This record gives sequence, C-alpha cells and structure tokens, in this order.
Amino acid sequence: MSLLTTFKKEHLTQVEIEMRNFLRQQTTDETLLKSMLYSIDAGGKRLRPLLLLATITGFEKEIKRGMYQVAAAVEMIHTYSLIHDDLPAMDDDQLRRGLPTNHVKFGAGMATLAGDGLLTEAFHLLSQSELDSDLCLLLVQNLAKASGSFGMVAGQAADVQAEGKQLQLQEMTYIHQRKTGALFTFAITAGGLLAQQEESVVDLLQILAGHLGLAFQIRDDLLDVTATTEQLGKNVGHDAALNKSTYPALLGVDKSYQLFAAELAATKNCIEKLGEVSFAKPDLLLTLIEELTLEAREK
Ligand code: IPE
Ligand code: IPE
Ligand code: MG
Ligand code: MG
Ligand code: MG
Repeated sequence: MSLLTTFKKEHLTQVEIEMRNFLRQQTTDETLLKSMLYSIDAGGKRLRPLLLLATITGFEKEIKRGMYQVAAAVEMIHTYSLIHDDLPAMDDDQLRRGLPTNHVKFGAGMATLAGDGLLTEAFHLLSQSELDSDLCLLLVQNLAKASGSFGMVAGQAADVQAEGKQLQLQEMTYIHQRKTGALFTFAITAGGLLAQQEESVVDLLQILAGHLGLAFQIRDDLLDVTATTEQLGKNVGHDAALNKSTYPALLGVDKSYQLFAAELAATKNCIEKLGEVSFAKPDLLLTLIEELTLEAREK
C-alpha cells in the first residue's frame, strides 16, 4: 500500500468521525441531519483535509485531535459550498460525488438549509476544538476570511456574474483564486500554524497554496471538457452549457494545460524552498500533487 493510501486510511477516518459526530450532536431536525450527512458521506477526494494534514506531517509534527477538527471544519465548508454551487439558482447541477445532488434528493429549500447548517456548524466545531485558544481564534478568523465575502463567496459571486461574458485572463485568475484558492490557502497555512511554524514559513505556504489552488481550478475546468461523467462523479460539459468563464473557454485546452503545469511547477518550487527551512518530509504532499498531475494528463 502506498504512503498516501495508508495515510488516507488512518487519518481521513478520524476527520470523518469528527464531522459526523458533531453534526449528529448538534442537529435536532432529522431531515436536515440526513441532508447534511448525505453530502458529507458522499465522499469526495477530501483534498483540503489531506492538504492540511500532509502539511503538518511535512513538518514532522504528530497529528492530534484538534487538528482533525480543523480539517473537519474546512471540509464542512467545502461541502456546503458544493451544495450551494449545485443549486438550480447557481450551476443547476444534478450529479455530485457520484450521486444525485443534494437538492435533487431533498429539494432546493432543504439543500439550502443543509448548506447553511454545514457552514455554521463548521465554525461551531472549530470554535470548540482542542486547540490553544489564541491559535483557535486565529484559525476562526482565517477560515472566515477564506470562506466569506473576501474569499470563496467573493469568487462565487464573481463567477455567477461572469456567465456569458468574455473575461480577461486576470479577471478569471481572480475568480479561481477566490472560489477555490482561498480554501486551499486556509488548509495549507492552517497546517503550518498548527505545526507551530514561524511567519516567514507560513508566508511561503501561502504562496504555495495560491499556485496549487489556481492549478486545481484550471484542472477542474479542463476536466469538464476532457473527462467523463463516470471519472468525475459529476456531469461534464456543464461549463460550456452555462457559458461559464473558464480557462479552456478563454485560452483553449492546450494553453490551459500549459498554465496548469506552470502553476504546479511553481507549487513544487515552493516545496523545495520550504525543504531548505523546516519542511523535512515533503513526500506526502508531493504524492498528493502528483496524483492531481496524473489524473489531469490521463484524460
Ligand atoms: C470541486 O472540488 C469544486 C472545486 C473547487 C473545483 P473537489 O474536486 O475537491 O470536490 P470533491 O470534494 O472531491 O467532491
Ligand atoms: C466551484 O467551482 C467552486 C466552489 C466554490 C464550489 P465549479 O462550479 O467549477 O465546481 P464544480 O465543477 O461544480 O465542482
Ligand atoms: Mg460554480
Ligand atoms: Mg459547479
Ligand atoms: Mg467546475
């Protein structure tokens, strides 16, 4: 079994337990609980928790419960963002994580509320996580900034307004950095903060995450053009149908691949630089990144 597979088995189970137990404890309405757990249990790659935990491991720190709780919080925010992203009023998608979308299963009203619940309970969980209180407060602030109207929500707002428009590359990069990059940045810098790294190291992690987040959304745009529904567990060809502003729509597939590869190379460059400071065990993070590279090339 590969290093990454073993790591996923051991640690993602803990993140999932934190999410499920907390939601069960904190939810009084049976249907709302079902709706939230439906999307959480549908799986997904759990990339943001993995990035957070792989960063901590890279600094040779032991993973403790409070860290799983931070990872759980960011995955809950991400899952809420997907439920809302799929709503008829947004991307109007029918398939997610290989299953009918939350609103197809539970109706748009309940899906909206499941998203609201996951968003709120993510902060509730983070606020009472097993962490030093100063660090906890900093992470609450960072997660709010990454998720809210400066981060992911800002990116989603720009994304819906860009439908049917021809954007400049710079404007599209702004959207991608916010709607996807911001949560990546939270996950990776939280890993550095939880591993008690100094400011200059966390700054470098932030640059790394910016490149990786952008690469990931370019890849997501590419896969919508080049992959199959079976491979992705979500409907393909949807961006073009909605007249979305995407990298392939603006630049074509080949040029988008080049930019994707350039962002990944910049990510690896940051990992090398971190290795010169305190990031002594980069293998897991590199393997995670390598997986993304391979998947994108296969299509
Ligand atoms: C999908 O994210 C939405 C984007 C930000 C591109 P993921 O590709 O990480 O989705 P899951 O969590 O694996 O379902
Ligand atoms: C969504 O981007 C990013 C989010 C903040 C959820 P997309 O709309 O491209 O994500 P998919 O393709 O539906 O997963
Ligand atoms: Mg969208
Ligand atoms: Mg979408
Ligand atoms: Mg997409």
